[in-house]
Amino acid sequence: KRIVVLISGNGSNLQAILDRSLEQNIHGQVVAVISNRPDAYGLTRAEQREVDTQVLDHTEFETREAYDYQLKNLIDSYHPDLVVLAGFMRILSDPLVMHYHGRMLNIHPSLLPKYKGLNTHSRAIEAGDTEHGASVHFVTPELDDGPVVIQSKVPVFKDDTELELAARVQEQERNIYPLVIEWFCRGRLTMENNKAYLDGNEI
Ligand code: GRF
Repeated sequence: KRIVVLISGNGSNLQAILDRSLEQNIHGQVVAVISNRPDAYGLTRAEQREVDTQVLDHTEFETREAYDYQLKNLIDSYHPDLVVLAGFMRILSDPLVMHYHGRMLNIHPSLLPKYKGLNTHSRAIEAGDTEHGASVHFVTPELDDGPVVIQSKVPVFKDDTELELAARVQEQERNIYPLVIEWFCRGRLTMENNKAYLDGNEI
């Protein structure tokens, strides 16, 4: 299966995906990494693995629609079976999301449906939550709202800083995201009528 990964920053999830595909046969290959930011460190990670990189800088576009149209063309030029959002910090317009219906995944740093949007770690701390985590989900037009495939929980300790908690969550992200991607590439994971299925069973 052909995988295109979208990033905006560090790319630790991208790294985990690349590592897993090197270590074992995930039945998929990252064919391109696309960033909306020219300085994203994830681009370097991709280059180190000789994966094609592309920058599509959103600051050079007047509207979201114009950007997303180009983004769609760029992604489609790689003929992906799966599009993976890995820290891609942009809201995607509906036509783009619908174009990849059932073949676009995202990882979100909270136990969805809690804390959609930004600053999830500080919001969990401020709320006094004792557990927090990350969710992998199919992407649907509503932000951070598509069917959840898997979640990983971590404890929140009393004097956690945002950074400490983020690091604990991200360690889990690096485990679950490559796993879910492998499920998809093996044809085990699907989405129908806004529900996720693993081996034909609703999740
Ligand atoms: C992750 O915490 C992910 O959940 C969120 O953005 C962060 C990306 O980190 N969507 P990285 O770029 O993969 O290191």
